[in-house]
Amino acid sequence: MTEHRPSEVIYQVYPSSFADSNGDGLGDLKGILDKLDYIDTLGVDAVWISPVFLTPKGPDGDGGYAITDYREIDPKYGTVDDFKAILDKAHDLGLRVYTDFVLAHTANDHDWFEKSRNREEPYDDYYVWDDGHKDEHGNRLPPNNWKSVFGGPAWNWDDKREQWYLHHFLASQPALNNNIEKVQDAVLDEMRFWLDMGVDGFRLDAMPFANHDPDLRNNPWRDGQWPRDSEHWEEQYFQHSICQDSTVHFIARIREMMDSYPDKKTTLGEAISGPDGGGDSVPVAASYVDAEKGLDMCYTNALMSIWEYPDAGRVAGMVKHLEHHFPEGGNCNSASNHDIPRSASRMTKHIADEDKDKAVKQLMELFISLPGSFCMYQGEELGLPAARIPEDIPLDKLQDPVAHTKGLEHSRDGARTPFPWDSGKKNLGFSSSDTPYLPATESHKARAVDVQEKDPESMLNFTRDRLKWRKAQPALQKGTTKVIDKIPAPLLGFVRKTKEQSILCLFNMSSAQQSIKLSDYFNEKQCKSMNINKDETVTLEAYGSAFYGDKPVAVNVNAKTAAKKKTPKTGT
Ligand code: NOJ
Repeated sequence: MTEHRPSEVIYQVYPSSFADSNGDGLGDLKGILDKLDYIDTLGVDAVWISPVFLTPKGPDGDGGYAITDYREIDPKYGTVDDFKAILDKAHDLGLRVYTDFVLAHTANDHDWFEKSRNREEPYDDYYVWDDGHKDEHGNRLPPNNWKSVFGGPAWNWDDKREQWYLHHFLASQPALNNNIEKVQDAVLDEMRFWLDMGVDGFRLDAMPFANHDPDLRNNPWRDGQWPRDSEHWEEQYFQHSICQDSTVHFIARIREMMDSYPDKKTTLGEAISGPDGGGDSVPVAASYVDAEKGLDMCYTNALMSIWEYPDAGRVAGMVKHLEHHFPEGGNCNSASNHDIPRSASRMTKHIADEDKDKAVKQLMELFISLPGSFCMYQGEELGLPAARIPEDIPLDKLQDPVAHTKGLEHSRDGARTPFPWDSGKKNLGFSSSDTPYLPATESHKARAVDVQEKDPESMLNFTRDRLKWRKAQPALQKGTTKVIDKIPAPLLGFVRKTKEQSILCLFNMSSAQQSIKLSDYFNEKQCKSMNINKDETVTLEAYGSAFYGDKPVAVNVNAKTAAKKKTPKTGT
């Protein structure tokens, strides 16, 4: 087995809720700038900043993912100079900066869309337009049965152009017609704008949605019935609406453009939609990744589809699946982000209170030892639980449009509440405003940064310690992975291996203490390579983990990163 390409640890910042520098209640670029030193103490390689570009006001903006102008910073977040200041400081600290790039759609007030509605050349076919059909009463019907992820049909009638346009998300997010190279060229130009300014790469939004079937054929329903009246995206197979092979060709063009820069530019694709609503996105994601012609990495729904504490068998299956589809690397582990309830509460809801902290720490150790990169969402290093609706976020304070289009239980606001910087300050130190963007979460107070800084055993210091340790383990960064099937559940064991190092990663995925004699599972040579004492019986406490063959790292968990890392990293 070949070693994987090197992986990295990426920290995701969701700007609206990270740090508000001007007291208007919304996080901003200067807030991010002020907190880069904090991010650097975590020991991550890169920062991904969710979109800060010009966007329609209110719910139509989809939290920044409907873009009015790719080249403009939305004034509510600051200015291009603020953004450049982030780049400069991050680079001084040795942190790479990735921005979000949304290539599957724009906002409906983007100049391209306005011109396309008016059939102006060359914008006429920049979006996906169609006449649709009429029923026997003369009522207009959309061209096919495709549904929007956010509820309802994926088509909206435009009175100006008198045609339907495709939107996979909100009606304010018309899908770009990336099936034609002219549109891809325009998208690539917008990307170059930020690369020329010095960004180190992109998190590419919604990659499976980049292309569609040019013949607009109906998707099959998952239970085989057609026609029918359901409005649910999750009930279809997406043979035609998304996950098209043509996306691989578009990606090759993106890669060629990225590689035309002298320094490494990185791509992290979001590929969390499989061939059906709840399905497996790993094979789709893997088809986008390639050392020479593809994306550097993708995050998938492998961890995001886990809604309870993962048992040993489930993780073992996932590891094998990832290793099979990403034999040379390119997987990015992501369990939490701005779209999904935080893993610290989502995965531990059935765990006894006294074990929860241990379990959350174990999850962190698991995420950083799985094959691939790791994308950590702001607050994950604090072990924050998701904010609850309506206990933590009253209904009249909700922001995410999906609560209206799809139902309250789909609201993503629980993962987007203010970052708790200081337990003693207004809005937990996020903002001095009386009306913060979303309310600060009371249960986050005890987990605020100031509290955790003082506690050597805190999740924050644990995360720093573990990330620093990971950096010293080549096998965790780029090793192959082999699950040791014979190790009995609830223990889980897999070996990460490079030429220079083998590490056995051992996890007790249960609340009961477990003992094991490891030499029963490895031969003498293997035991020697992983420092396993052949006579020893190992005991793992509830949700305990152990690593054999790792290199010890001298860690002062409270110290700030000592030396400035001037040399930019190469990424994957
Ligand atoms: C994925 C983003 O993470 C999400 O927030 C957004 O709503 C959709 N893509 C549409 O852009």
